[in-house]
Amino acid sequence: MAGWKKVVDEVHAAGAKIAPQLWHTGIMRGVGGEGSSLEPYPDVPAFGPSGLLMPGKEIGHSMSLDDIEQVVAAYVQGAVDARALGFDCIEIHGAHGYMIDQFFWEGTNQRSDAYGGSLVKRAQFAVDIIRGIRAKVGPDYPIIFRFSQWKLVDYHAQLVNNPEELEQFLKPLCDAGVDVFHCSTRRFWQPEFEGSDLNQAGWTKKITGKPAITVGSISLKEDFLDERARGIAEH
Ligand SMILES: Cc1cc2nc3c(=O)[nH]c(=O)nc-3n(C[C@H](O)[C@H](O)[C@H](O)COP(=O)(O)O)c2cc1C
Repeated sequence: MAGWKKVVDEVHAAGAKIAPQLWHTGIMRGVGGEGSSLEPYPDVPAFGPSGLLMPGKEIGHSMSLDDIEQVVAAYVQGAVDARALGFDCIEIHGAHGYMIDQFFWEGTNQRSDAYGGSLVKRAQFAVDIIRGIRAKVGPDYPIIFRFSQWKLVDYHAQLVNNPEELEQFLKPLCDAGVDVFHCSTRRFWQPEFEGSDLNQAGWTKKITGKPAITVGSISLKEDFLDERARGIAEH
């Protein structure tokens, strides 16, 4: 914590603002990896050539309601600590197939309780975290939420297939208290859905009315981008 305070102070002294990203990797950390009690896969990575973390492969046990409560409390504590240290806002990592995304994605969420099933129920774990944080940090502390369709184990995974589903997914997160969405795509110039040029951040902003951050190959040299992408980048 003392180390992070130094980082916050230095960033502020240089005239910028800073947010930490709160992140739990879930079963991506490697089943049987350090600190894990999961057998019988000691030292086996959860992804990579062995491809253990894939839909249809049971490689751990579902989190109990008690586990969920503990992890939610840890996220809330992380946000409270961040605010106390002087961070200007926090970001919650709900993307790329890590723990929160393991709840979102039907490929990895096999639950039949309040945290599994429909898109809205699969968002409940994130909602609990956001609500818990919002209740402790007050109404004015910005909460950024990062999400993605793609997963490290599957670049073509889809959480939502059309704007209506995206709206169903985003509404509970907005209602819980998200201020800004960080839309993680791998190619920012690609339209998210057929029939519109809007990318994921564009749709998110249109649907929620909230600021949205876009990302994905923005810094590639011009040679890598076609003319249309360069046009979008300039705007
Ligand atoms: C080595 C490496 C580490 C990353 N770590 C994180 C991370 O901790 N949290 C996160 O949300 N994204 C992480 N990402 C993803 C990037 O934030 C970003 O979404 C990705 O690089 C695509 O954007 P770009 O093409 O503009 O770089 C990481 C990417 C790389 C290559």
